[in-house]
Amino acid sequence: MTKNSFEAVPLKNLDEWEDDLLRRYPDPDSIATAKKTDEYRNYEEPARDTVKEFYRLNHKYQTYEFVQTKRKEFLAFDKKEMTVWDAFDFLNQLVDDSDPDTDLDQLQHLLQTSEAIRKDGHPDWMVLTGLMHDMGKVLCLFGEPQWAVVGDTFPVGCAYSDKIVYAEYFKDNPDYSNKLFNTEYGVYEPGCGLRKVDMSWGHDEYIYQMLKDYLPEPGLYMLRYHSFYAWHREGAYEHLLDDHDREMLKWVKLFNPYDLYSKSPEPPDWTKLKPYYQELVAKYLPAKLKF
Ligand SMILES: [Fe+2]
Ligand SMILES: [Fe+2]
Repeated sequence: MTKNSFEAVPLKNLDEWEDDLLRRYPDPDSIATAKKTDEYRNYEEPARDTVKEFYRLNHKYQTYEFVQTKRKEFLAFDKKEMTVWDAFDFLNQLVDDSDPDTDLDQLQHLLQTSEAIRKDGHPDWMVLTGLMHDMGKVLCLFGEPQWAVVGDTFPVGCAYSDKIVYAEYFKDNPDYSNKLFNTEYGVYEPGCGLRKVDMSWGHDEYIYQMLKDYLPEPGLYMLRYHSFYAWHREGAYEHLLDDHDREMLKWVKLFNPYDLYSKSPEPPDWTKLKPYYQELVAKYLPAKLKF
């Protein structure tokens, strides 16, 4: 991982955030397993402090203005051009060897997600969505701090929901006491639809914008809102939704368990899988992606 100040890297690795998601939203199929509970207990204490610190920074610095700045900077897509395969190699530089428990690289999580979707017989564009959904984490390799890449996302420009994890930390965010942004609707109209709402900046919005011309609408919602837990798990922000969002929510919910619960210590056999994915990528995506 890029070495940076502690403010940039409170997490030992990006998986700590996702492990914490599993603590908050345990797999309903394995809740009863005693072994799993013990495993949690072992790592929970130290990990939670870093996750808390991570959210303190995230909630403090993700302002409406910060989001506008990052959108200008990264949605120009003028940093790099890569084939999907080169992009996976690039993304895999994020592997952190300081944590002995992190055994799988980024590509493995993406493949486990997409393979679980494929096994359940979902459409091929959803398999591709699974394969690509965390590609936006390359933002870390462009020097962005962890709190501007991962973590739960939420609307900026209006009052923060108390359904957002560690919502108490928003009091340190300047928007929290700014009259333009701290009312229920803030800069938005009632029922305006999420497409008109700016989300906190991170890997979801970035990959959505990168792929928005290539995937069907439900896949784009999965990319764009997969970390918006306050919405798809907690039911917040109903007042900003339109009918299209309500229709798409079921797809975002369908995707979420594949992201959270497909992790397994056994890496998928990439050599065997590669021909299938080469064909899939060629069917939907251009030869090179712009970053
Ligand atoms: Fe993600
Ligand atoms: Fe993921």
